[in-house]
Amino acid sequence: MAGEAPLKSMDEIKWFHSIPLGDGVVTPGIDASMAKLEQICLPKDLSGKTVLDIGAWDGFFSFQAEKAGAKRVLSTDHFCWSGPGWGTKDGFNFAHNALNSKVESLDIDAMDITPENVGKFDVVMFLGVLYHLQDPMAGLRVAAAVCNELLIIETVVDDIHRWKPSMVYYPKDSLNDDDTNYWAPNVAAMKGMLTDLGFKKVEVVYPKKSWLRYSFPVRLYSSIKGMITGRGPFRQTINQGRMSFHAYR
Ligand SMILES: C[S@@+](CC[C@H](N)C(=O)[O-])C[C@H]1O[C@@H](n2cnc3c(N)ncnc32)[C@H](O)[C@@H]1O
Repeated sequence: MAGEAPLKSMDEIKWFHSIPLGDGVVTPGIDASMAKLEQICLPKDLSGKTVLDIGAWDGFFSFQAEKAGAKRVLSTDHFCWSGPGWGTKDGFNFAHNALNSKVESLDIDAMDITPENVGKFDVVMFLGVLYHLQDPMAGLRVAAAVCNELLIIETVVDDIHRWKPSMVYYPKDSLNDDDTNYWAPNVAAMKGMLTDLGFKKVEVVYPKKSWLRYSFPVRLYSSIKGMITGRGPFRQTINQGRMSFHAYR
């Protein structure tokens, strides 16, 4: 990686992703990355496909796309590579080197991505980014504009009991004590926004058995648990969760 600072050692890096590097070595991230990989239902075979990872951080999903045979993968980030986030690009650089990866990278803010400056990709991953954006519809428009086939979105969802499209706003740090969290849509809002952006089919791929995971007793239990372990009514509500969506052109 010409022109970049020397690689840090694994112990020096503040990891987000838990990336398998071979021989049983996994980077010590705080994220349950392998479990999330199941949830986003990344196609097992990406042979011949081009893939864009928006908000890649340590690059776990980019490296998985490369492993699935993608012919080109571009990882992008800014907030956690050189912006105000607590992350750095050190983890990405370390894993890239350890995996002998050919994944490309570009330091660019999610909202600055356009077909003119990054091109268009068969598969676009927009994972864990939507709720960090002050203007989520604009963020989806960015992702849609560079997507030729499949847009994969992983996000916090809220208001999931409502059939009407809606979004919930989190003032200050009211979602998970993190003041970079702003908005969470419900399923109808996600489907509506993505349809309006020209996607022909939008499906929830996680949770698969949403009738069980999001059934009233399970939500009631997790809400009560959230009230006890959290701080006040914004901390966790009965209608919150995380979901993954696939949107097809
Ligand atoms: C929760 S991490 C998700 C990382 C990875 N895509 C994943 O799903 O594991 C959020 C990502 O969104 C990026 N991001 C983009 N814009 C952001 C913003 N305004 N605030 C916080 N994070 C932002 C961060 O840099 C970070 O890589």
